[in-house]
Amino acid sequence: MKYILAIESSCDDTAAAVLRDIKVLSNVVARQAIHEEYGGVVPELASRAHQQNIVPTVDIALKKANIKPDQLSAIAYTQGPGLMGSLLVGSSFAKSMAMALGIPLIAVNHMQAHILAHFIEEEGYKKPTFPFLALTISGGHTQIINVRSFFEMEVIGETTDDAVGEAFDKSAKILGLPYPGGPLIDQYAQKGNPKKYTFTHPKVAGLDFSFSGLKTQILYFIQKNVAQNPRFIEENLTDICASIQHTIVEILMDKLQKAVIQTGIQQIAIGGGVSANSGIRTALKTAETERNWQTFVPKFEYTTDNAAMIGIVGYYKLIENNFEENQSLSSARLKL
Ligand code: KG4
Ligand code: ZN
Repeated sequence: MKYILAIESSCDDTAAAVLRDIKVLSNVVARQAIHEEYGGVVPELASRAHQQNIVPTVDIALKKANIKPDQLSAIAYTQGPGLMGSLLVGSSFAKSMAMALGIPLIAVNHMQAHILAHFIEEEGYKKPTFPFLALTISGGHTQIINVRSFFEMEVIGETTDDAVGEAFDKSAKILGLPYPGGPLIDQYAQKGNPKKYTFTHPKVAGLDFSFSGLKTQILYFIQKNVAQNPRFIEENLTDICASIQHTIVEILMDKLQKAVIQTGIQQIAIGGGVSANSGIRTALKTAETERNWQTFVPKFEYTTDNAAMIGIVGYYKLIENNFEENQSLSSARLKL
């Protein structure tokens, strides 16, 4: 039996988790509210908040799991990608603690972790089998990955500019909604007409995505309508949100469909904060019956940034002896 302490600090949440093999004993996230005032993550403030949060967060994770540090088999931490100042807080802490305890330190790729989160043992959730396609959609990433085994993954499509979560958040900002606006767009969208307004899809070759053009399109659309009717947004908020969400979901589903045809793989596993979106969830459910896909959506707490997903990668790396002994360096642009 292995006990893994995992630490995630790539962006604005300080997270720690304890796993016993592939089961999560505790999963703690300290959210940083400070960024809401600025309408986005401020790297310097994130790094400082991580420094304040890391000790209590790890302490709570160990206590909730009822595990003492000397019972730990290894410590896993996020090596990248992410904000350098944030990554360094997690890695320095993990390195020192692993060294003090004399146990292995395992560097984990955050993107790999979003994908392998599907392998956490959780009642009521099934796991995909290899090979499968992963769609990781969050405020920082948008990728389609062909996952051949735990550690053989190929990015077959990704965004060339904004991530899909940014498309949601920036659209929300244009509408005057607070940050992060993705969940709010989703809430309003559920009460609106998704066909009321149409936005054109970006033309991007192959399986890649682009969302910055859509954002500009929405900005001009709002500016034009507000010039004619200053109350345009408040009078049509639900329909505007539904139409934006519908467009984004269609873009994602179109590329997924292409990826399925290209690879012949019909298992789709989604991850990242945007996988909470009701529109994408409904579209995937429909594809199960209409297109014969098998779709996988992890438990919500394992899909937004969290440390349990870092722990599951740590576990598989530990049992496969697939890590460098305490040598890893943080990397803001780490690739899969
Ligand atoms: O994975 P996550 O917690 O953090 C990273 O960005 O890595 O994802 C956060 C992103 C934000 O952009 C947020 O607006 C978006 O996920 N999000 C949603 C929903 N819930 C979270 N976007 C659309 N609909 C939602 N229900
Ligand atoms: Zn993430």
